[in-house]
Amino acid sequence: MEVTADSTDITPSTYNRYQELREFDETKSGVKGLSDSGLAKIPRIFVRPAEEIARDRSKSGATELQIPVIDLNNLATNWPGAVEQVLEAAREVGFFQVVNHGVPDSILEGAFGAARAFHELPKEVKAEYYDREGKRRVNFWCNFDLYKSTYAQWRDTLFCLMEPKPLDPEDLPPVCRDAIMEYSKQVKAVGTTLLELLSEALGLKPDYLGNMDCAKGHALLYHYYPACPEPDLTMGTANHSDPDFLTILLQDDIGGLQVYYQDQWVDVPPVAGALVVNIGDLLQLMSNDVFKSVEHRVLSKDVGPRLSIACFFTLYEDPASKMYGPIKELVLEDRPALYREITLGEFMTHYYSKGLDGISALAPFRLPS
Ligand code: OGA
Ligand code: NI
Repeated sequence: MEVTADSTDITPSTYNRYQELREFDETKSGVKGLSDSGLAKIPRIFVRPAEEIARDRSKSGATELQIPVIDLNNLATNWPGAVEQVLEAAREVGFFQVVNHGVPDSILEGAFGAARAFHELPKEVKAEYYDREGKRRVNFWCNFDLYKSTYAQWRDTLFCLMEPKPLDPEDLPPVCRDAIMEYSKQVKAVGTTLLELLSEALGLKPDYLGNMDCAKGHALLYHYYPACPEPDLTMGTANHSDPDFLTILLQDDIGGLQVYYQDQWVDVPPVAGALVVNIGDLLQLMSNDVFKSVEHRVLSKDVGPRLSIACFFTLYEDPASKMYGPIKELVLEDRPALYREITLGEFMTHYYSKGLDGISALAPFRLPS
């Protein structure tokens, strides 16, 4: 698509960007609200810098990589084979999909139903949950980094902090309460199993990562990406890696999720009934870079809405005392520690202060080599 000077005049000095962000934010109805108003052009706060769009053109379609799909059927007998496949995927791409993970289709359907039910509520009802401060455990917002990013993205999110302190179901909107509680329980079980496989893949006892509290806390992010009238000018989610131990993502059949691999953007194609799994920054740090937390993003599309549900395993309410660093068994003479020890508090403070800018959140914690 040709980018016209008019639509990309997004230099903050040429308009009061902050003011426009504020006005949009204060509608408390997100991009769904814009999309419902039937607009034909996206507001300029959403437009990506033209140089970035141009840079992207050379970076897609040239790799044959297929994101691995790992079958978790019959794990009791296939355990060693699954460990092997998980190791390969986590080390090489940092992303894989799992099938036969044990979550029934009806629960997956219920999870999508919950996403749709919440995001399609009347805007006055959703507005009651709209809270950028994040002081509550259930929040609705459009872009957690709206005021920090170079451009806003075409995505609304319902964020639910489920554990370690159990969420009171009463805090959830009634239309999606039961489905969210149920999916939370099921996805945690899958996460626990995956952490066992990942522990063994690192040559550790299966309960190692579990004992490090990697599955003790999780949040669910119910994303909603409405159809976008000018998809080539913005993004659904900008490049980022995830600020957690592990992410399990349920995506519908629309597509648009891509991972950055060998200098190319590679599609993570929707596979019916599958869960997408990716290594987060904290596991990359703990594994001393054996596992990769890779950049990924979601393209916006002129079809939709696209629904996805991300489960972030991390300890949001961790007392700032617990330290995480490269696992000592993985620090060897010829492979010294690549990171210093950090608290999750300091990591998250850094992550939130920088927004989704495509720079690894681990960068400040890397030791000089
Ligand atoms: C995320 C994410 C991808 C998607 O929530 O971190 O990368 O498909 N989501 O929504
Ligand atoms: Ni992500």
